[in-house]
Order: sequence, then C-alpha cells, then structure tokens
Amino acid sequence: MKNPPSPFKPFDLTKYLDEKRELVNRSLLQIIDEKFTDYRLCDAMTYSLMAPGKRLRPVLCLAAAETVGTIDDDVITAACGIEMIHTYSLIHDDLPAMDNDNMRRGKPTCHIKFDVATAILTGDALLTLAFDIFSSRSLCSRKNRKLWLAVINAVSKAAGHRGMIEGQMRDMAAENNSLELDDLKKMHYLKTGALIEASVTTGALLGGGSMASIRHLETYASNIGLAFQVVDDILNVEGDPSKMGKATGTDQSRNKSTYPGLLGLTQSRQFASDLVNNALHAIKIFGNKANPLLALATYIIERKR
Ligand code: IPE
Ligand code: IPE
Ligand code: MG
Ligand code: MG
Repeated sequence: MKNPPSPFKPFDLTKYLDEKRELVNRSLLQIIDEKFTDYRLCDAMTYSLMAPGKRLRPVLCLAAAETVGTIDDDVITAACGIEMIHTYSLIHDDLPAMDNDNMRRGKPTCHIKFDVATAILTGDALLTLAFDIFSSRSLCSRKNRKLWLAVINAVSKAAGHRGMIEGQMRDMAAENNSLELDDLKKMHYLKTGALIEASVTTGALLGGGSMASIRHLETYASNIGLAFQVVDDILNVEGDPSKMGKATGTDQSRNKSTYPGLLGLTQSRQFASDLVNNALHAIKIFGNKANPLLALATYIIERKR
C-alpha cells in the first residue's frame, strides 16, 4: 500500500534563491536602464553590479520583509541599494592599495578590466546611487517616509566609519599583526556583519515589523553576519577558486588576521555553526514565516562560494 502524501513540505531554498535573485537582478537592470548613460563610468558600474554575485544581502532583506509582512516596491528598492553598497565595497576592497585582487565574481576585478581611477570612481558612484534611490523612493512614499529615514540612518551607519569602513581599516591595520579573539570578532562584525544586519533590519522595517520582531531579527542577523565572514575566511583556505570566482590562499599570503589563522579550521567551523544555531533560535517565534531565513542561515555555513 502506498503511503499517504506527507503534509510536511520541506522548504526549497534553491527555488527561493533563484526567484529572489531573479527579482533583484531584474530590478537592478531596470534602475540601470533608467539612470545610466552610455559611457565608461556607467559601463564599469554595470560590469561590477551585474557580475554574478550571490545577492545574499538583498535576498536577506526580502526574506526579512516576508517574515514580518510583505515584499513591496520599497523593499525591492532597499534591497537593490544595499547590493550597490556591497558591490562598491568589493570594488574598493580589491584595489591594489587594499587586497590587490584580480578576480571577483568569476571575472577580472573592476580595476583590472577598466583602470584604478575608474574603479575608485565606480565604487563612489554606486555608493552614492544607493542613497539617491533610497531618498527618491522615500519622496514618492507617503506611507513609508519615516521608515525610509530610519532605513537611510541604519544603512549609512552600517556602511560608514563606525561600521564597514572601520572594519576595513581594522583589517588593513591587522595585516602582519595577530589579533586577540575579541578584536578579531569585532573586526569581522564591523567589516561584514554590520551591512548584513542592516539588510535584515531594512527589510523588517519596510515590511512593517514591530519593534519586538525587529529585535529578534537583529539578533538573527548579527549572528549570521559574523558567521558569514568566518566562512569567507574558511573558504579562503579550503575553497575552490573556480566555484568561488575569486582567488583563495590570499589571506595567508598577505598575513591577514582570520579565524582559521587564529583558531584553526575545526574550531572556526564550530564557531560558525554555533553562531548559526544562535541565529535559528532567535527567529523561532516567527514559526513557518521564517522558513526562508532559517534556510538562508544554514546556507551561509554550507555554501561553497
Ligand atoms: C564577499 O561577499 C565579501 C565579504 C564581505 C566576505 P559575498 O561573498 O557576499 O560576495 P558576492 O556578492 O557573492 O560576490
Ligand atoms: C571584504 O572582506 C569585506 C568588505 C568588502 C567590506 P574580504 O577582503 O575578507 O573578502 P573577500 O575575500 O575579498 O571577498
Ligand atoms: Mg579585504
Ligand atoms: Mg578582499
């Protein structure tokens, strides 16, 4: 006799990621179509922005909105702006004066494809464009104007001198210097965790989440944000560059301060997995609504790129 169909349907993350990446890419192309002209700077902006990134931050923003409410045009605009800020940070991170990398997202880095000056300006332009689209959208939105101010505030703090930029400064200062565990954690949180946290907060704010639900989501986000950078460090040691679309082994050759460098691979993996467990715990209260966020947290430690 055949078993009856199970009422439990496991969450299909691959399908979810495909759909949401497609939505983000389509929306980014629409912005490019409306705003970009046919010249070198816009070519470089399109080149880096449309290279095949994982789109993790915008997908987290959409998933957070869905957990507390719904995805609307404001949420999609926020997700696109955050991806622009992230792309700018990668362009600058790869520059000769910083990590001096030649490959990103499976393609030559912006300064290799174009030139260093164009890459600097491309990063500047993407960062500024994000705040252009946020503020333009807020001017059109009567309902969300206050929420947009809160979003602009959260994102600028996360990306700025007390967030990602400070993290990048600490990363550079720690080359050839071994950090204590707490300082390493702080650096990782600032350079990567802060923007990931802001992606989730933004989705939750524009999705209409209550203060209490936003707090739960922030705990989730700060844990996965840190886990994400720990895994980035692990993949730099043992990842496959052809899958990752960027070079590996570079942290060691540049004497970077990393988790695997300080704790070894096994303990680093354990640390990432503990962080993800904390994240899962923080969003239990949302029940099935948090299925995408639950699956994304697991993806962060299991990913190969
Ligand atoms: C890479 O970020 C840089 C870090 C902050 C660790 P991602 O791994 O999200 O890069 P893309 O967007 O997929 O290229
Ligand atoms: C990049 O960190 C972090 C930011 C761009 C803010 P890494 O330098 O560690 O990341 P990859 O390995 O180049 O992607
Ligand atoms: Mg770096
Ligand atoms: Mg780098």
